[in-house]
Amino acid sequence: MEFSIKTGTPERARAGCIMVGVYQARKLSAAGAALDRACGGRLSAIIKRGDMPGHAGSTLLLHDVPRIAAERVLLIGLGPESEFGERQFCAAVGHAVRALAHTGVTDAVLCLSARVKDRDSAWLITQATLVAADALYRFDRMKSKRKERVGLRTLAFLPSNSARANATAVTRAAAIAHGMALTRDLGNLPSNVCTPTYLANAARTLAKEHKLAVQVLQRKDMEKLGMGSLLSVARGSSEPPQLIVLRYNGAGRNEKPVALVGKGVTFDTGGISLKPAPEMDEMKFDMCGAASVLGTLKAVAEMRLPINVVGVIPTTENMPSGTATKPGDIVTSLSGQTIEILNTDAEGRLILCDALTYTERFKPDTVIDIATLTGACVIALGHVASGMFANDDALARELLAAGQEAHDRAWQLPLWDDYQEQLHSNFADFANIGGRPAGSITAACFLARFTKKFRWAHIDIAGTAWKSGKQKGATGRPVPLLTQFLITRASRRG
Ligand code: BES
Ligand code: MN
Ligand code: ZN
Repeated sequence: MEFSIKTGTPERARAGCIMVGVYQARKLSAAGAALDRACGGRLSAIIKRGDMPGHAGSTLLLHDVPRIAAERVLLIGLGPESEFGERQFCAAVGHAVRALAHTGVTDAVLCLSARVKDRDSAWLITQATLVAADALYRFDRMKSKRKERVGLRTLAFLPSNSARANATAVTRAAAIAHGMALTRDLGNLPSNVCTPTYLANAARTLAKEHKLAVQVLQRKDMEKLGMGSLLSVARGSSEPPQLIVLRYNGAGRNEKPVALVGKGVTFDTGGISLKPAPEMDEMKFDMCGAASVLGTLKAVAEMRLPINVVGVIPTTENMPSGTATKPGDIVTSLSGQTIEILNTDAEGRLILCDALTYTERFKPDTVIDIATLTGACVIALGHVASGMFANDDALARELLAAGQEAHDRAWQLPLWDDYQEQLHSNFADFANIGGRPAGSITAACFLARFTKKFRWAHIDIAGTAWKSGKQKGATGRPVPLLTQFLITRASRRG
């Protein structure tokens, strides 16, 4: 899929299809009105007949409209103008792109004349690109017969102004879309394909494509370093664990990097604390944090952002077996702190804590970990917002703002010390679980014990990284949030 910006008037735009909005009831958007004038009132006549009242979700495809350069005109229902906002805009773009799916249209122009409160044309372009890429995303690598890819190949935007930011927006949004597609592909692959070794190879491929430095630590390296916590999760599996380190250097050597640390459990059975059978297949998505680190690095490298980023990915399976870690076992983490593993299903924090300690060596300015960490986060925030925790208020504000800007939102939960006592252990320095109350917070509190040496935030994507049910699949979140955060950081410094 190619995205670009068009200039000129809508009636002169040459394409397989030009798309304009219609508000409820029966009111053409500014671009629609321009087309209507050019064709002598054809569109308004059709609207008057009642075929396109402007309801949200409706579309109407017209052919060979006189004196319009495009072969077709797609009218897109926008709903009431007074209610038209970010959500309605994104939904309308999605409906428009899907409406073209079973037509012969391969190149289309989307007019962006509708106003969304407090958002400029660069924002509309960014979101339209991401929504269109999402609508056209397919994952058919595991089907024996792949359907031929037909349909939309190029999508151009016709904004209502000629701001220079528009061109930057479309190239950056395309890079984010490419990053998200990588994140989704890796998430959607089954765990018998996407093993820790597969993720390491995916990182090597990414490094080759974008000139990143890559290093992968093996089990013996982890043993030498003393990563007893990470290794305790890998004990039950015959797939070797990997610790992937990727470095993107877009800024000067002396500039401290932002570190992104992603949970890469390629399948989470729960281990000896085995999970129940229903929906266990979805635990192949337990590496979506890792995949979002790879996707974000891809986006950042494609944009050539002037910033340094290091990605750190601990990856393993969590399996039960005769060699698996058992409840009550005590391990020594890389930090030297001992952990009583009361539940082997709380494994994400066990691999992240050693990766976080390892990250100290990169002298990071900021560390952000991304993890499908707790079922409790899904109960708290559902599938709308990711959970966010930080040991620094300015960093928390930056991440919340990036989520708002990117329409990939997070919500902050407290990291107060009062919750720490739930991790009490009679036998080790602390336990790896804190009981049922505030499960997402005690998981973050566990990680906080390993991140005292730097500015740190934790993003729990258990509810946002994938969808269940008929639409089952990875979402690519929070690549937009993370990328926006890095874009803002890069512009602040550069
Ligand atoms: N990967 C899961 C968290 C998860 C569960 C994400 C369901 C999305 C949907 C994590 O490793 C886990 O099992 N967490 C436990 C922690 C508990 C044992 C303290 C959980 O949330 O139940
Ligand atoms: Mn688990
Ligand atoms: Zn897990």
